Amino acid sequence: MSETLIIPTSGSKAERYQLLLPQIEALIDMNCGWVANYANVCAAIQQYFNHWWCGFYLINNNNQLELGPFIGPVACTIIDFNKGVCGKAWAQSNTIVVPNVHEFKGHIACSSESNSEIVVPILQNNKVIGVLDIDSINFNAFDEIDQNNLENVAKFLAKIPVNF
Ligand code: SME
Repeated sequence: MSETLIIPTSGSKAERYQLLLPQIEALIDMNCGWVANYANVCAAIQQYFNHWWCGFYLINNNNQLELGPFIGPVACTIIDFNKGVCGKAWAQSNTIVVPNVHEFKGHIACSSESNSEIVVPILQNNKVIGVLDIDSINFNAFDEIDQNNLENVAKFLAKIPVNF
């Protein structure tokens, strides 16, 4: 597809995702490896929603989450299993929506500006291979609409083999 995203100037969050999702699916290029695809996907989400931080952590050969492609301020590079929101989403194999990160026990504050967060695991054959992590400077930025749509994004990404 063309490398230009169609971005609406108005519309509800659900309507924006409705326009974004097919474009993300079309953006995925199976002739490329995971780095190019993951990088483009977080860029596309960011072009639509302009979050504080949007990116990926992938499980490395040491069985830790390692920082992958992202957009936003510099972030911690390694997160252990069951640590932070990312490590807990991995441990639970479930999306975690955090309305207020300051009230989440064990939250890892890569940036003091972040106030809410969503972490969506990416599963291949029912096994977590990484997570999509998005931070917002607003409280309560994420809800079921984000969860449902970002879980679909994670399904698109699950088609791409990830290797270190
Ligand atoms: N807050 C995350 C750490 C990663 S940064 O938000 C980019 C966590 O608690 O796992």
